[in-house]
Amino acid sequence: MKLFIDSCIREDSRTNILAEAFMEKHPGKWKTLSLVDLGLKPLNEERLDARMAYLNKGDFNNPAFDLAKEFAEAEEILIASPYYDYSFSALLKTYIENIYIIGIVSRYDETGRPIGLCRAKRLTYITTAGGPYDPAYSYEYIRRIATECFGIKECNLIYAENLDIVGYDATAIIEAKRKSL
Ligand SMILES: Cc1cc2nc3c(=O)[nH]c(=O)nc-3n(C[C@H](O)[C@H](O)[C@H](O)COP(=O)(O)O)c2cc1C
Repeated sequence: MKLFIDSCIREDSRTNILAEAFMEKHPGKWKTLSLVDLGLKPLNEERLDARMAYLNKGDFNNPAFDLAKEFAEAEEILIASPYYDYSFSALLKTYIENIYIIGIVSRYDETGRPIGLCRAKRLTYITTAGGPYDPAYSYEYIRRIATECFGIKECNLIYAENLDIVGYDATAIIEAKRKSL
């Protein structure tokens, strides 16, 4: 199974257009995880305590870990998120918080270094930006966590930028990018 993590917010999302085009170019058994529909919650003390209690008991069969297992077992990962406030949607960060389970996606060696446990060989990150795109707090973060913590060796970035600047033809920019995939 290939996993498409869709953290696009708008129904007419340009980022999503590029993600759909990518999956057409790379066919396979894609499963779409629409984060908008999942109703994920960020950790609070109650949810953190519950998670720690399951982990301390070694209860990896708890449904709370289903998303983490799905991520770890996927043979390829595609993430799509709009560029928000120099980064990505909070929905995507919430997803990462939910799936980063030690013992499922990663483990630590005796020096405290993370060792990735995920099966995927490749992760592709797709984004679109209203102005110029800077990958520092979005793709670069995803690339580091994927390669250094999840064990996913190959990470790629696809982006389209300047979509909301007056005088730029957003439709033409997206179409050109879509064709170049
Ligand atoms: C909440 C929010 C924050 C945004 N922050 C930025 C930003 O920091 N830099 C930028 O260039 N564009 C920013 N934009 C514009 C979006 O990146 C741009 O419209 C993007 O193409 C939206 O993707 P979508 O069409 O998939 O929804 C922001 C838009 C919104 C709604």
